[in-house]
Amino acid sequence: MPTPNLQHVEMHLLLEGVFQMYGHDFRDYAEASLHRRLNKWLAESRFPGFSEAQGPVLRDPAVFQTLLKGLTVHVTEMFRDPLAFKALREEVIPHLRTYPFLKVWVAGCATGEEAYSLAILLEEEGFKDRYRIYATDIDPEVLTQAKAGIYPLKELQKFTQNYQKAGGKAAFSDYYAASFDLAMLEPRLRERMVFATHNLAVDANFGEMNLVLCRNVLIYFKPNLKARVLELLDASLAPGGFLCLGQKESLDTTPWQKGYQEIAPRSRVYRKRYE
Ligand SMILES: C[S@@+](CC[C@H](N)C(=O)[O-])C[C@H]1O[C@@H](n2cnc3c(N)ncnc32)[C@H](O)[C@@H]1O
Repeated sequence: MPTPNLQHVEMHLLLEGVFQMYGHDFRDYAEASLHRRLNKWLAESRFPGFSEAQGPVLRDPAVFQTLLKGLTVHVTEMFRDPLAFKALREEVIPHLRTYPFLKVWVAGCATGEEAYSLAILLEEEGFKDRYRIYATDIDPEVLTQAKAGIYPLKELQKFTQNYQKAGGKAAFSDYYAASFDLAMLEPRLRERMVFATHNLAVDANFGEMNLVLCRNVLIYFKPNLKARVLELLDASLAPGGFLCLGQKESLDTTPWQKGYQEIAPRSRVYRKRYE
């Protein structure tokens, strides 16, 4: 038996406790990045080690929130990977346009930029009030920011470039009002959005979605958790529905590969086959 590493044992016990106490399951997150983030959180905390942190984390939800924040990566941007949004616009929208009503789930939406990008795309493609976007994340704090739809003005240059590369049809400045160093997205964009906390590792599926985006979330999971989440996403999609993963994620070599067709090679946009 290999010699146990004390720090790894302590980390494991903390994650086990977090799961039992709060139902948040980080036990199957990919180790290298998880350990890096745990160590960073510890270094910035007042605790000398993971064992000393365990009691406060388990007893005090506010301390747990700081850990949750430290463990999750929220990097995102509007029209991130613009070619994926271009593929959605050109290859997916023509199919969805025939539907009377569209149900979209953005799983792991972070601070909301991806959900607002979709709202803009659907508005430009004439969906008007014929859709609902469910935007979910494990972290309630990022959802508060997502609901506000206010972003640092300095990020807007990148968002604008992405929007143009994604085939945007208007001037991106039509979608926000600038005030000092902030950009406030047009409130109408969130009229058809529902924000909710949802944990992909343990919570139930969403029913009969026509389009599911779960991008740059699976890369943080070990293969068994990735498989569990793919099963959940699959169960949430109506037959003929579309699944959009991140550029470094794919259905290749998974049990779901056969049940889906990638709409263009390496686009990471898949269509669920009808039985
Ligand atoms: C890197 S961000 C990706 C944001 C966006 N989808 C994108 O591609 O730009 C990953 C998000 O996944 C969320 N996340 C991590 N584990 C999760 C889980 N088990 N259930 C739901 N969301 C989770 C994090 O809180 C974070 O906001």
